[in-house]
Amino acid sequence: MKDYTPRPDLLAGRVILVTGAGSGLGRAASLAYARHGATVALLGRNEAKLEAVYDEILAAGGPEPAMFPYDLATADDRSLETLANTIAHHLKRLDGVLHSAHQFFSLTPLHLQTLEQWQTLMRVNLIAPFALTRACLPLLQQAQDASVIFTGETHGHHPSAYWGGYAVAKSGLETLTRVWADELGADGNPRINTLIPGPVATTLRSRTHPGLAPETVASADDLMPWYLYLIGADSRAIRGQIVECQT
Ligand SMILES: NC(=O)c1ccc[n+]([C@@H]2O[C@H](COP(=O)([O-])OP(=O)(O)OC[C@H]3O[C@@H](n4cnc5c(N)ncnc54)[C@H](OP(=O)(O)O)[C@@H]3O)[C@@H](O)[C@H]2O)c1
Repeated sequence: MKDYTPRPDLLAGRVILVTGAGSGLGRAASLAYARHGATVALLGRNEAKLEAVYDEILAAGGPEPAMFPYDLATADDRSLETLANTIAHHLKRLDGVLHSAHQFFSLTPLHLQTLEQWQTLMRVNLIAPFALTRACLPLLQQAQDASVIFTGETHGHHPSAYWGGYAVAKSGLETLTRVWADELGADGNPRINTLIPGPVATTLRSRTHPGLAPETVASADDLMPWYLYLIGADSRAIRGQIVECQT
């Protein structure tokens, strides 16, 4: 997939919802999806960051995006349903969801992690991706080749000390992927996969590995071939998979 070269119009006419669209991998994917023709629905907490991505897409000549300032930590079924209805009303369709938003506190031994922190970690990193996908399901099922990408984490796949509730939530996404893909079946729509980026030079990386030079790991842009491949119709046969980016 590293060498995947998408056609310029891979996502023309499609609508893709991206969570965590204001920074890091979500921002890079939003720009890449728009460059390939998608109308991107940008979701994040910070409106100023979403506006900056909105402006960048327009400046690059991409289709006008939509912005959804929304806090996934306080998500509930009713507001998620309203969000899905708003997408249906204004954008008319939904062909994919990239769940890139995440909540991280710090690397800490389990005995120092609190119930409140775990509740937030589970809500943002596991429950919200499930509930948002569920709310969007009727819309996704109307599209021809809909694709849902959960963003996993190496330490959810290979658990290790100090990643605590973050790793537990991320490993839950892998189970969610397999359960959902099994329910949807071999030809099911949407197809659901988890993508594990590996180390990437973003804000998160600077918090988990302070002092490590960002140029020692991949940039968010380096990973866009995977993000484009999995969201577009070329990966039609990939479903229920845990895909690890290898740069
Ligand atoms: N960077 C890495 O090395 C690495 C490695 C493995 C996996 N990943 C995964 O890749 C994904 C993206 O990571 P990143 O490094 O790009 O992170 P990032 O730059 O920190 O971006 C995270 C985004 O999540 C949004 N967000 C956080 N809490 C939210 C909430 N409650 N509601 C809505 N949005 C919220 C933030 O939006 P606001 O700023 O608007 O709050 C921000 O735009 C994550 O799922 C992460 O686990 C990253």
